[in-house]
Amino acid sequence: MSEFLWWRDGVIYQIYPRTFMDSNNDGIVDLPGITQKLDYLQDLGVDAVWLSPVYTSPDVDFGYDVANYREIDPKFGGMPAFDKFLYEAHRRNIRVIMDLVLNHTSDQHEWFQQSKSSKNNHFRDWYIWKKATDGGKPPNNWKSRFGGSGWEWDSKTEEYYFHMFFKQQPDLNWRNPKVFNEILEMIKFWLDKGVDGFRLDVFNAFFKDINFTDNPYKIGLTKFDQQKHIYDADQPEMFDFLQKFRKMLDSYPKRYSVGETFMGDEHTAAKYVGDQALHAAFEFSFINNRYKPSAFYKSIEKWENALEEIGWPSYFLNNHDDPRSATRHTRSEDDERLKVLATLLLTVRGTPFLYYGEEIGMRDIPISRKSDVLDPVGRHFWPFYKGRDGCRSPMQWNSEQYAGFSDHQPWLPVHANHNWRNVASQQADQNSLLNFYKKLIRIRKLTPALQKGMYLPITYEPRKILAYVRQTPEQTALIALNFSKKNVGLVLSSKLLGADWKLLISNKRETFPEIRDRKIMLEGDEALIIIQG
Ligand code: GLC
Repeated sequence: MSEFLWWRDGVIYQIYPRTFMDSNNDGIVDLPGITQKLDYLQDLGVDAVWLSPVYTSPDVDFGYDVANYREIDPKFGGMPAFDKFLYEAHRRNIRVIMDLVLNHTSDQHEWFQQSKSSKNNHFRDWYIWKKATDGGKPPNNWKSRFGGSGWEWDSKTEEYYFHMFFKQQPDLNWRNPKVFNEILEMIKFWLDKGVDGFRLDVFNAFFKDINFTDNPYKIGLTKFDQQKHIYDADQPEMFDFLQKFRKMLDSYPKRYSVGETFMGDEHTAAKYVGDQALHAAFEFSFINNRYKPSAFYKSIEKWENALEEIGWPSYFLNNHDDPRSATRHTRSEDDERLKVLATLLLTVRGTPFLYYGEEIGMRDIPISRKSDVLDPVGRHFWPFYKGRDGCRSPMQWNSEQYAGFSDHQPWLPVHANHNWRNVASQQADQNSLLNFYKKLIRIRKLTPALQKGMYLPITYEPRKILAYVRQTPEQTALIALNFSKKNVGLVLSSKLLGADWKLLISNKRETFPEIRDRKIMLEGDEALIIIQG
């Protein structure tokens, strides 16, 4: 058995820094606060944390608008706090993944301030500037993902600049070798500090068509979705950057990269994964699925096929941009479905990513008035889309007024259910979701088949139960997930029936389930793992 490789065999936990833990009680999280919680993460069993951006930022897009790539924002405690965090994480064998937001900077970044100061400035060509058309219009039809045209007029220098997201997030000109090289140098700066990996924000949008060709029309809800994004993303030049980036990563031991694929399907994501490109990429279908075993079955099949057994998959049910899985898949405060999904996430072949609060089943905070919305995307598209505040509310540590997150009113409201849905109460309850996640993570760690084993489905077109085997030459684990409320039997082949199974975990029983008429009998909402070898 090959040795344990943290990013392949381990579990990664995403922290949205602004809402994890506030140590100085200003209502915003800070790195000393996160450092205080490393023992909690170690106890949970995670192998790495991915920190959403903590660089200096005016926070128009809450950190995804970076004003200085080499600085940690003072509100998070600055570089000394980061160094301490990194040291303390490593001391606990927890790796650290930084978010790299390289498609754009903040408009407050020194490079952009210089760039917009005059057409002759040294930094002018670090961003995408274009003249208006003869009729005074934007240079082409490209749109912003966050609403409106992608082009913003600068009256001082009388040119447009391009922004794929907010106008305060101008896109870098990746065709300028100075940009390209400076970014590689900056990445080296973080590698030299000892950072273990990077998550690349919307990486496949870095390069744009050299001729600025109009995107063709398609049917869609927003103006942005009404375009086929052929010319403003996925340009072949990206591979040159990825190759150089990967070479640099590989010159340090055991470093990792994962890309957030912007738009596109599993094939788009898969083509960026490989020895000369990224270690992994995000594929979004788990987040978009309804609570149906067939939907998850298909997601796994298509992702496995797209990666062609060469690329290593990664899976997630939650992130900082989408409604939480607990809100998507349950209408009540019952957590049994979440145990089924947790079992799937932690036993499917690939790296599982958890999002803070998922392990205690945090629900989105309700947003009912436009005036309450902080996320500018939500304000723009209200009431059709309420933005991303819902899934970014403060971590629920205990039942105190601000959930143990801070003594001060946090920047986003705490969910009303924190009175009883919190880490402290779930730690005390043997049957809680938190303890279930903990057990699953421990089991995964002790069971090589669940880390590296082949994935072999045993239910096809499943209607109630999703079941599969994970297998190494020495060990077989069988995972059966009942997505229905009813008791159902899972038919086993003679080969599987004959095996000498042991119960590893179930949310519904302590002893091995009954086998009747060649079927393992599962209760409604049951998640079961049995093992042989
Ligand atoms: C990514 C981030 C999102 C951000 C956007 C622009 O999609 O996940 O939070 O708003 O990029 O940087």
